[in-house]
Amino acid sequence: HNLAGLDHADSPVSAAVMSPEAVSVEDLRGPQDAPPDRSFTISASKLITTLPTGEHTELWTFNQTVPGPELRVKEGDLVEVVLHNVDIEDGVTIHWHGLNVPNGEDGVAGLTQDAVMPGERFVYRFITNQTGTYWYHSHQQSSVQVAKGLYGTLIIEPKEGIAEDVDMTVMSHSHGTSNGSTITLGPTGVLSRRIIEPGTAVRIRLINAHNMPRIFYVSGARYRVAAIDGVNLNGPEWMEDRPLLLAAGGRYDLALVMPEHAVSVSHSLGTINETSEAVVLSATDHDMPAPGVEGTIFDPAHYGAPAPVPFDSDTKYDKAFTLVLDNRVGFYNGTMTNLQTINGYVFPDTPSLMVSEGDVVKMKFVNRGFMDHPMHLHGHHLLVLSRYGIPVQGSPWWTDSLNVAPGEVYEAAFVADNPGLWMDHCHNLEHAAAGMSMHLMYE
Ligand code: C2O
Ligand code: CU
Repeated sequence: HNLAGLDHADSPVSAAVMSPEAVSVEDLRGPQDAPPDRSFTISASKLITTLPTGEHTELWTFNQTVPGPELRVKEGDLVEVVLHNVDIEDGVTIHWHGLNVPNGEDGVAGLTQDAVMPGERFVYRFITNQTGTYWYHSHQQSSVQVAKGLYGTLIIEPKEGIAEDVDMTVMSHSHGTSNGSTITLGPTGVLSRRIIEPGTAVRIRLINAHNMPRIFYVSGARYRVAAIDGVNLNGPEWMEDRPLLLAAGGRYDLALVMPEHAVSVSHSLGTINETSEAVVLSATDHDMPAPGVEGTIFDPAHYGAPAPVPFDSDTKYDKAFTLVLDNRVGFYNGTMTNLQTINGYVFPDTPSLMVSEGDVVKMKFVNRGFMDHPMHLHGHHLLVLSRYGIPVQGSPWWTDSLNVAPGEVYEAAFVADNPGLWMDHCHNLEHAAAGMSMHLMYE
């Protein structure tokens, strides 16, 4: 099996080096013979588009739109997605960000499959055991391909349906675009409007598909954070004017009731005065929201009501890992660059995290650098235990994309219940490409 098209650098770990008793990636594919409940075909192809400035630019697209089509399925569905690469020369894959799929469906070029080259196809099959807001993107040369447009949203509706009458997805990315169902806020002044009857229950799915943390501002309404990274929060409280800092790769679901006046959802890299694009919800096609006010950034560590979790202070961990995130200047592929390191190592030299199936694993993240590192572990959700040693209070906070800011120390835990070879990397994809990547490996 030739694992072509490596993501960041040549990977020292492939299915071929696993011990003979170990399961191969092929054995860790999803259900292969049942008829799917939902099937989609996604074609990766180039698109030349004209920017508002009149310049032409080349986007790389799924189904000729950026973002790609919104895939909306139901909890428990067997989903089949046929990926067809039309003309992306370096090959593409699809990674289902935040979905804990069987390892062989995880879409990591060079690790769980070969990159799909022009003219080729690959069929993904998985059962959606989770609900909530996810996204998908190419995991072949991710730092280039996601920036070029190879991403889209994946919404899994719970069996009982969605409580709200209006359900909308708002993404943050470096291009501001819309495919009809997903509005992507970028850096240039696009304003889109949705007409919504006052009194309507609204769910807004915020997704950060950008490399840097993004701060979303909701002005003109009270709202609750109903879910983080696809997992519902317990007892979410109403709040107002709390900026929402979303990790790269992360998602917040907001729930609100449409008031009589307009509401805006905007985003910024910094303060509320630097917001650019906005989605305006209003009852008419002309009313404008009152300007927002700056508030204290929403903190998921102190929000909602406690609920039982599988780990507590008595938990005996089978494995405990510390990941020190830092950077240093050094040579990479022959050029002097700012290397992003984990425990001083640069991928692929970083020793893998080794676990056995069933292990209860503690992870500690320490950011000694001066940049945010949104850490993303594939195939698993982590429960955040503490920040700076202070236990998380309020609702259990499960995450797959944890923003570790400079100086921060987080502890989190997960159960190793999804065998395979998984990436654990910074979702600032440029940092991942500059070394901040490693593997989690089941022995
Ligand atoms: Cu969203 Cu390894 O990626
Ligand atoms: Cu980083």
